Amino acid sequence: MTDVKRAAVVGAGTMGNGIAHVLAQSGCAVQLVDVSDDLLACALATIRGNMDRQVEKQKMTPPEREAALGRITTSTDLAAVNGAELVVEAATETPEVKFQLFADIDRTASNGAILATNTSSISITEIGARTERPERVIGMHFMNPVPVMPLVEVIRGLQTADETVETVFELAKSLGKTPVEVNDYPGFVSNRLLMPMINEACFCVLEGVAEPEAIDAVMKLGMGHPMGPLTLADLIGLDVCLSIMEVLHAGLGEDKYRPCPLLRKMVGAGRLGRKTGRGFYDYG
Ligand code: CAA
Repeated sequence: MTDVKRAAVVGAGTMGNGIAHVLAQSGCAVQLVDVSDDLLACALATIRGNMDRQVEKQKMTPPEREAALGRITTSTDLAAVNGAELVVEAATETPEVKFQLFADIDRTASNGAILATNTSSISITEIGARTERPERVIGMHFMNPVPVMPLVEVIRGLQTADETVETVFELAKSLGKTPVEVNDYPGFVSNRLLMPMINEACFCVLEGVAEPEAIDAVMKLGMGHPMGPLTLADLIGLDVCLSIMEVLHAGLGEDKYRPCPLLRKMVGAGRLGRKTGRGFYDYG
């Protein structure tokens, strides 16, 4: 079992910068890779902002923040993943993009490196099959916001080796997270349970059962959820919710997973949630 000291994160968006944040905070050297310098600069600013928050809450000292930020280097060249013991991919959730990216990462990454994906719904088994090392390909599914949520859903593909699972478990624990092992089926466990609830909340709006505020209040105050399903959908992104419902529907084949037409309509209108300023709620 390897003790991971050098990691690379491919994709510097919300999930990628969160993953780089927690890896660097735990003492790992992190190579963060994305396609443009602007995206990378934006990611570093976000990480700094989130670490500032932790400093304010006295969960981190200013010298610890500076040391963690100092462990992150950035590159627009995928070849920079070479040298890392673990590569975590957190790029676009499009199967063809992901498959090609894994074939490229596999060619570039060091022999023996583990290739993990933060995918929320694409098959780990199929991603692994695009590489020459399917036994070292695994799902490492972090939750948003990554620095706060304690879970890492560890997804075992059909060909993932026990040693790979063990290394990723130990790494997740060293990040202060709790790893939970699941097998590779559509939506894994997290999104197989979460997304049908969000989708059903969309149907409640569509059918006029209640206003979004009321639906969210029922689940927050009645079921103890930290945020209601529609607020959460806006946080995750309605496009992401829709694409995960499509994966569940296609992969499991049952009507109960059909995406709500209202969800589809909102995505078509570009109302994707917080990231576009409007979803079920208006973010001004
Ligand atoms: N970085 C660092 N710290 C952060 C942070 C970030 N990005 N965002 C929030 N925090 C910290 C805050 O500083 C605060 O710290 P203290 O506890 O020390 O005060 C704490 O997190 C809580 O934040 P807030 O007080 O601002 O707000 P809150 O109490 O309303 O909590 C929340 C916010 C943690 C997001 C909470 O509402 C929550 O748990 N929501 C549910 C989130 C969820 O379900 N995530 C999973 C989404 S699904 C997914 O990610 C996977 C997928 O495949 C789709």
